[in-house]
Amino acid sequence: MHNPLHTSANTQYYLDLEEKYGAHNYHPLPVVLKKGTGVFLWDVDDKRYFDFLSGYSAVNQGHCHPAVVEVLQAQASELTLTSRAFHNDQLGEYEKYITTYFGYDKVLPMNTGVEGGETAIKLARRWGYTVKGIEANKAKIIFASGNFWGRTMAAISSSTDPSSYHNFGPYMPGFEVIPYNDLSALEAALQDPNVAAYMFEPIQGEAGVVVPDEGYLTGIRNLCSQYKVLMIADEIQTGLARTGKMLACDHENVRPDILILGKALSGGTLPISAVLSDDEVMMTIKPGEHGSTYGGNPLACKVAIAALQVLKDENMAANAEAMGNLFREELSKLNSPYISCIRGRGLLNAIVIKHHNPDAAWELCLALKDNGLLAKPTHGDKIRFAPPLIITVEQIMEAVNIIEKSLSCLN
Ligand SMILES: Cc1ncc(COP(=O)(O)O)c(C=O)c1O
Repeated sequence: MHNPLHTSANTQYYLDLEEKYGAHNYHPLPVVLKKGTGVFLWDVDDKRYFDFLSGYSAVNQGHCHPAVVEVLQAQASELTLTSRAFHNDQLGEYEKYITTYFGYDKVLPMNTGVEGGETAIKLARRWGYTVKGIEANKAKIIFASGNFWGRTMAAISSSTDPSSYHNFGPYMPGFEVIPYNDLSALEAALQDPNVAAYMFEPIQGEAGVVVPDEGYLTGIRNLCSQYKVLMIADEIQTGLARTGKMLACDHENVRPDILILGKALSGGTLPISAVLSDDEVMMTIKPGEHGSTYGGNPLACKVAIAALQVLKDENMAANAEAMGNLFREELSKLNSPYISCIRGRGLLNAIVIKHHNPDAAWELCLALKDNGLLAKPTHGDKIRFAPPLIITVEQIMEAVNIIEKSLSCLN
């Protein structure tokens, strides 16, 4: 089992501060980071690590991408926030840019991912009442088991994970949960004429990188069209080149009615989320009916354009596809008795650990850390591997060597 290396006094100082003054709502690995560039992070003792979490896929472009940081710094000294009480000279440019980029009529800018999800649900309910003709307060939204879209009351009300919802009730009404990757269950749920939308992740990230069967996305698209229900794709983790295409829905060439983006929309610099849809949906919300103080602020607008532009300029989707294939191939060559499954798409990957010790995945992450690679277990036995999309062949090979070496801690 893992034998923890000595924690320096320097590191311990920061661990103690957080322990004493911060809420204990996370259980981080005992590493204190102070600097990041590209695929690498450095801790307060100047030790270097591969970042294989990428801020839960928020840092697709790599840490402190120069093109993003340059724009961030320039706009930060020009104008950062006006609120939506007034117009600003960046918002319209950004709205034009992102709607053209993804091919939708309109965008509604928010900040965190979970606000994007909340916005999508409000839009779907409003569309359900005013366009589909659902009776007042009867609208239903369908979700998939294992979903994760954040920590607000609405998000945990659709969750099937007790650590998300337990002892936080009462919950939001009008939500129904069906099994993931099950088109028959979806079709059965859509028989109810009060259903306004099906909201799902094209690959379930937090659930442990659960990749649905080929044809699932197409099936959802067809059923939603057939039953006049909005298809809401939560691409907050899967979108923006992470899975080897700009959107995970692009793997099956399907276009959701509502697209939610977040995380890497800022290249990991500030919270920026966006909800995209066409006028039939977006124009159902009128002035004063939804918003956010920071949503659409000029700093965010400028940064989001830069973050989206570098994804294209540097062909990050193609690199994610190629490096993801190489990574899974090399991992499977290790033939480790402790890895029962390797799965993923592009650079959104996970392994499932097989071991008699229920803490084995955590132990392995501690060993990976000591050997210079940062990753985090999810749901006990799974470890997600999601490096920045700019990773090179040599870096993948070095990372796989670290994983191989670290696996021996489970002997
Ligand atoms: C698929 C998905 N949706 C929504 C969210 C919530 O995003 P945020 O933490 O920015 O609110 C997450 C975060 O992990 C996510 O993975």
